Amino acid sequence: MKNELTNDILRVLYTEDEIKARVEELGAALAARFAGQRPLFVGILKGSLIFLADLIRACPLLCDLEMMAVSSYGNATSSSGRVRINHDLQQDVRGRDLVVVEDILDSGNTLAFLRDYLTAKGAASITIVTLLDKPSGRQKAVTADYVGFTVPDEFVVGYGLDYAQLYRNLPCIGVLKPEVYGKPDKT
Ligand code: PRP
Repeated sequence: MKNELTNDILRVLYTEDEIKARVEELGAALAARFAGQRPLFVGILKGSLIFLADLIRACPLLCDLEMMAVSSYGNATSSSGRVRINHDLQQDVRGRDLVVVEDILDSGNTLAFLRDYLTAKGAASITIVTLLDKPSGRQKAVTADYVGFTVPDEFVVGYGLDYAQLYRNLPCIGVLKPEVYGKPDKT
């Protein structure tokens, strides 16, 4: 369907239905992995918001939920490498089994930082779940335990992922038209 949100999309990588099916598989895998335990999900805002909301509902476990907000991109299309915590944990994670939920693993700067940060906070274990993995972007040695989709080296938006804070509410995941980068009203 054409509208002002989809006009800027070059092509759809994953449809709403494809995402839903994959998220259900990930939720079932996590439910099996943590059966009988009480993991603490840590959603990394803002990008993971929509994935997290769907993932935890696809995962029938007794679990806790925390949010952290970190950013490293600003309005740029590649990582600055500096990770800033905008909202920190509200509870002690010492001794807890954490499930860190990300929308995308790209350079690895964010998850490398978070892994060190959460380890220093005393987490018993850290399981990384990312909806998208872009291995071509990697600068730090980070591997996710659960990956939804492996994506090519293109700028993807939708289902929580933004460009300059836009397109997070696109229900599918798509590649942004290159001419959209740098439009004065979109930065
Ligand atoms: C995005 C995304 C990840 C991170 C991944 O966050 O949500 O947290 O970048 O990239 P990396 O592997 O290169 O570090 P961003 O900093 O854009 O903030 P946002 O989640 O608020 O969009």
